[in-house]
Amino acid sequence: MARPDPHSVTDDSQPTTRHLEWDATVDFQSKRLSATVSLHFKEAAKSPTPFDLDARALEVSTVTDLSGAALKWEALPPDAILGTPLRVHVPAGATGVRLEYRTGPEASALQWLEPSQTHGGNQPYLFSQCQAIHARSVLPCQDSPARRVSYRASMNVPSGLVAVMAAAPKNSQSKGGRTTFHFEMPQVIPPYLLAFAVGDLASKDLSPRSRVWCEPGLLASAAWEFEGVERQIEAAESLFGPYDWERFDLLVMPPSFPYGGMENPRLTFLTPTLLAGDRSMVNVVAHELAHSWTGNLVTNVNAEHFWLNEGFTVFAERRILEALEGHENAELHAALGRNDLEEAVARFEKAGTPELTRLRTRLAGIDPDEAFSVVPYEKGYLLLRALEAAAGRERFDALLQGWLEKHRFGSVNTDDFIAHCEQLAPGLLAKVNAPQWIDQPGIPADAPRAKSARLDAVKALAGTVPEASAVAGWSAIEWQLFLEWSPRTLSAAQLSALDERFHFSSAKNTEVHVAWLLLSLQSGSDAMLPQVESFLGRVGRMKYLKPLFAALHGRASTRPFAKTLFEKNSSRLHPIARQVIAGMLAK
Ligand code: BES
Ligand code: ZN
Repeated sequence: MARPDPHSVTDDSQPTTRHLEWDATVDFQSKRLSATVSLHFKEAAKSPTPFDLDARALEVSTVTDLSGAALKWEALPPDAILGTPLRVHVPAGATGVRLEYRTGPEASALQWLEPSQTHGGNQPYLFSQCQAIHARSVLPCQDSPARRVSYRASMNVPSGLVAVMAAAPKNSQSKGGRTTFHFEMPQVIPPYLLAFAVGDLASKDLSPRSRVWCEPGLLASAAWEFEGVERQIEAAESLFGPYDWERFDLLVMPPSFPYGGMENPRLTFLTPTLLAGDRSMVNVVAHELAHSWTGNLVTNVNAEHFWLNEGFTVFAERRILEALEGHENAELHAALGRNDLEEAVARFEKAGTPELTRLRTRLAGIDPDEAFSVVPYEKGYLLLRALEAAAGRERFDALLQGWLEKHRFGSVNTDDFIAHCEQLAPGLLAKVNAPQWIDQPGIPADAPRAKSARLDAVKALAGTVPEASAVAGWSAIEWQLFLEWSPRTLSAAQLSALDERFHFSSAKNTEVHVAWLLLSLQSGSDAMLPQVESFLGRVGRMKYLKPLFAALHGRASTRPFAKTLFEKNSSRLHPIARQVIAGMLAK
């Protein structure tokens, strides 16, 4: 037995799934999917073998081979993190297995929204979020990025609703008050990239290969906000090679979507908080687009090498930004990233888990949603910047392009990257002391620092109440840095003077708004509690929930309020966010 992934029962000595066919019927009443999945093996089983599948809260009714002959199977012992896996006993010569099942009403990947929780208010909505290990709550599978599959799928939904998937749409048919939508994903993907949404959805073209989907009432503002997407794709192609996924469509999610964005192939999912009205948050689109190369084309083999997905993607995101908005803008984003990184490293240090700040982590027995932090993003980014500086941009670009070329549609670990560097640029890793970055906690003292005159200007004013003339022309990112750099010791008078002058408590950019709420809370002020309550009642993005709840929970006087707010809102949160915040408040 050899397991390539601590978060999956996938076993190298057993058959490998290479293709799957999934047919699901969506029932909004019972909040369940009834489905059939056929898992096709890469090679027929040579001898009788157990075939272990990840599953969580699935109710399986029938298990057969692909010709319909019943197979013996059993549930394996449940595990709090992994779920309740299944073992199917496969005879020699079998080319796959088929399972009929339904999902549990509490499937961790799925959020079922009442019409009242949507923008339009008339139709229900369903969406999935499978990263990191939630695909197994939607279908039994080898739920590890070490296993890539192509797929065909269909979704049967009540007529009037539209089903979209992160795949190529095929035809659809309506019959008896229901519509079946068909999809195909011809490229092999890790299971965490399986994704769908069902709701009152409309779309508008942004370019020949990109359109935006969302509820009809948001379409005009979404199309305006993301108008520049084709320029991002073109910039990315000139940096990283041809875009391999045919389409880059966007789906603006309901506000409870727990992430800023999710790089589902061909159909990136985005939080509606990006609709700031001034295109100030399109770096998130650049980030998800960059995953089309770093993450989706070349995928971390398991969550212990997550930095190969996210660190590379932050690096790629900032290269796209640099190409479109200039070096200085990219540096401002890097400075924000540095703040987040230092804060996270201090938090892990304090929690007694500094080992989670290595780039290469050990995660057996640790839930990847709990281990999630900006460290693989921003520390990974800094290592790549250090390597770029040491190699020179031209050589480093060649190294990066070679990496993407060599591992296209493959799954990689940290040693693969080390080997690639040693081959193309012998001695480069040693030059930046890469082993320290990779296997030691914390931020190396010689880590590259963001430099720009605009940064210096912001830093000089942080902690003061500046004149309007001194900040004329500041963009959202400068405001965010200003607020983050302001000491948490501002007086009530200073806080209210700031808000009066710059209106942070009604800022449309949620990064600025949340930075302001945190500054106020952490300075010991209660003035913003109504705004905090209102924000937490509207938005389910974990990047905001976590620090806001932590700030409330961290102060004795607001701790009960944290609990009240969580109880009030938890039924509206995605199951992943609900679990993460419940865990935080229990500490
Ligand atoms: N793939 C991630 C989101 C994710 C990570 C979901 C791990 C589940 C488990 C996505 O690409 C991401 O990083 N989103 C960021 C955006 C950002 C860094 C610009 C987010 O949601 O904030
Ligand atoms: Zn990402």
